[in-house]
Amino acid sequence: MTLRSQVAGCGAYLPERIVTNHELAGRLDTSDEWIRQRTGIGERRVAAPGELTSDLAVRAAERALSNAGMKGSDLDLLVVATATPDNTFPATATKVQARLGMRRGAAFDVQAVCAGFIFALSVADNALRLGQARTALVVGAETFSRILDWADRGTCVLFGDGAGALVLRAVPAAAPGGRFILSNHLHSDGRQYDILYVDGGPSSTRCTGFLRMEGREVFRLAIQHLSSVVDEALAANDLTASDIDWLVPHQANSRIIDGMGRKLGLSKDKVVVTIERHANTSAASIPLAIQAAVEDGRIQPGHLVLMEALGGGLSWGASLVRW
Ligand code: UT7
Repeated sequence: MTLRSQVAGCGAYLPERIVTNHELAGRLDTSDEWIRQRTGIGERRVAAPGELTSDLAVRAAERALSNAGMKGSDLDLLVVATATPDNTFPATATKVQARLGMRRGAAFDVQAVCAGFIFALSVADNALRLGQARTALVVGAETFSRILDWADRGTCVLFGDGAGALVLRAVPAAAPGGRFILSNHLHSDGRQYDILYVDGGPSSTRCTGFLRMEGREVFRLAIQHLSSVVDEALAANDLTASDIDWLVPHQANSRIIDGMGRKLGLSKDKVVVTIERHANTSAASIPLAIQAAVEDGRIQPGHLVLMEALGGGLSWGASLVRW
């Protein structure tokens, strides 16, 4: 029997502390006006001291499981997308696994930075399609506040902390409605390794390091690669942009998001935008946006949802899901 991956539930979690642009402008040479105009960001969440990526992931996962009517013990695969793990090893996913009461199957991290959620979704989808697992949890969770150089106005104003999660279950491909992940499309180009990176790590410096980015170049390549990967995803499924109900883009910059919406000819109300309140939460940004649009009733069963993201590597990808 041909199997596919159906979304069974989603959930998200944001740390309590809100840091506004105005607060940052009080300690940096920046302004609310610059940040809003250049990025669309108004505020971001920052994890409390001692609150770890795994803590955010567990909260999001518990909500997703509850929305799916499931328990941790129902899962046999857990994939956490993160570039800010609790420790260098073991995988943050294993800590989340234990706290969710999941006692079987595999738990591991996937690292594709801001594209991490698409990469993790693809890994889980492949496992369900192959019958390696029947129920999977995919989490995007980040505490980027811990790897920001808070004196660098060019980067520290852009990011926030948070987590989001999707529960997937294997269903027969022939089930009526065709409600499952249609396809995932992943790409990387390591020649751009050093335009968006962290200047530390266990093998190179023993220090955690700070995020460094050539913003303008990343912006240029984001438009180029995201445009081509969404075309690839639509063509692979014999669909056109007019078939899309919701574009759920990675929330890095409202100008990139608007550009993608325009390219696809989508009206603004078909694009899910959370950057104003969340900023860029890396691997968590897509599931956080999904949760917002499911919670307020925009995304409904049967809708066609297109997700796309690009991050350090560079790595980028897109997923098409019949919700
Ligand atoms: O999620 C992973 C993928 N990441 C992305 O997709 C991010 C892509 N890049 C971007 O979103 C944008 O390039 C940024 C938001 C990072 C920067 O916007 P920009 O329009 O490309 O600005 P810029 O870097 O070209 O800087 C323009 C000016 C500079 O000043 P001068 O040299 O023109 O005098 C910067 O020093 O803005 C200055 N600037 C700031 N001014 C006030 C940079 N950061 C700030 C700031 N506040 N926070």
